[in-house]
Amino acid sequence: MGKSILSTYDAVSFKDKTVLITGAASGIGRATAIRFAEAGAVLQLLDIDGDGLAETIKLCEHDAREHTAHVIDMSSKAKIDKFWDSISDNLPDVIVNNAGIYPMMDYLKVDEAYLKKILDVNMNSAFWMCQNYIAKRQKKGGIIINTSSIEAILPFKRDMIHYSMSKAGIIALTRSLSRDYGKMGFRCNVVMPGAIMTPGTESLMKQALLGLNLSLFKTGYDFKQRIANGNWGEPDDVAKAILFLSSDLASYVQGAVLPVDGGFLSA
Ligand SMILES: NC(=O)c1ccc[n+]([C@@H]2O[C@H](COP(=O)([O-])OP(=O)(O)OC[C@H]3O[C@@H](n4cnc5c(N)ncnc54)[C@H](O)[C@@H]3O)[C@@H](O)[C@H]2O)c1
Repeated sequence: MGKSILSTYDAVSFKDKTVLITGAASGIGRATAIRFAEAGAVLQLLDIDGDGLAETIKLCEHDAREHTAHVIDMSSKAKIDKFWDSISDNLPDVIVNNAGIYPMMDYLKVDEAYLKKILDVNMNSAFWMCQNYIAKRQKKGGIIINTSSIEAILPFKRDMIHYSMSKAGIIALTRSLSRDYGKMGFRCNVVMPGAIMTPGTESLMKQALLGLNLSLFKTGYDFKQRIANGNWGEPDDVAKAILFLSSDLASYVQGAVLPVDGGFLSA
């Protein structure tokens, strides 16, 4: 007997489901929280920025659902482990590892502490989050969405080697998890954003403006020219893709890497 087939409506409903999102205080994480709330989920939102999280919770409150905010520095394995111990009896059905930083730095100036910070926030956090999740949900399985970047496979901007490397690690992590834990009921996929206008990308642009950084201006211009859609994307464009990958519409999508970049990689 095959699986029972859900209606399209039920396949995208997250009613009675709990969804955890990291980096939910801003940009793509906030937009993702709003979409999941609309689809009926109860949210567990994590970020280092408590004020931003409170604002996201406000935007997600449609009814009496008990969303929770957790202020946590994702670069710390100890804090991640402690968080998972604290929610042992309320484990999420979906986790979205989205928190990330993308500061620019000349490769020749990157030191050990700098590289460690980037890898801890962008890559190791996802490693420890998934490890806790899989260990605690072995009997039930679950859905994992990890956030990479187009820079992982097409390094376009200068001075982002540390970042590209961290985001390539996300792809390897996710596909390996699919391989090892797919049969146990974990469905793991990667969303690969590019050219999305968020507070994070806006601050990069401001840096270029204030520092009169001509080469960064030129990169910005070339970048925009390459977007097949012709315009920057919005955080909600990525949120919708994450919702799809997490939903039953994507029931047979496993270990996939989905670009959400307005066609940047194809142009
Ligand atoms: N915007 C884009 O075009 C784009 C492109 C490719 C990949 N991405 C990835 O998408 C994700 C979200 O990016 P965004 O553009 O929405 O960025 P953003 O800066 O708007 O949001 C990132 C969030 O992560 C949180 N965060 C940062 N460090 C943290 C830490 N140590 N602990 C906990 N939370 C922390 C921030 O407080 C913020 O709320 C990132 O992983 C980024 O690398 C974005």
